[in-house]
Amino acid sequence: MLNFAAAGGSKRYKNKNMTNRTFTMIKPDAMKNGHAGAILDRIIREGFKIVALKMTELSQAKAGEFYAVHKERPFYAELVTFMSSGPIIAAILEKDNAVAEFRNLIGATNPAQAAEGTIRKLFATSVGENAVHGSDSDENAEIEGNFFFSGLERSM
Ligand code: CMP
Repeated sequence: MLNFAAAGGSKRYKNKNMTNRTFTMIKPDAMKNGHAGAILDRIIREGFKIVALKMTELSQAKAGEFYAVHKERPFYAELVTFMSSGPIIAAILEKDNAVAEFRNLIGATNPAQAAEGTIRKLFATSVGENAVHGSDSDENAEIEGNFFFSGLERSM
């Protein structure tokens, strides 16, 4: 009889856990500048599995809701206007230690401070128009993923 654990079953189950998931958006600047394909290719080559993905557009209200945590910041209005200025791609990604691994891959919020070879260093133009979003914690990854993909089965 096949042994579940010996066959890697428990590891596969662990990889379905939300703590191994993060959420990303390819932002309107990267979409407009034609970088979406290169960014997705890089994400996949770095070992992230795409669990869910959709191209969509945020209304001002929805962008405001998504970034509500930044409501009091001076750049909030600019951020909401920018994020609702054109199409985006939203995706849930899976990899061991996904949140930290993905933040390493995208680099610092300000592309001027992002490490060489990171997605923001390669494709972002400014701190406001910084090509991609990546969740900053496991908890926010789940909240942000649910914002776009409500009802997504954990077993997918
Ligand atoms: P993101 O990772 O999507 O999370 C919050 C966003 O706010 C951030 O990326 C930036 O795009 C934006 N942001 C942060 N700081 C500034 C700033 N000083 N000016 C404009 N936008 C900013």
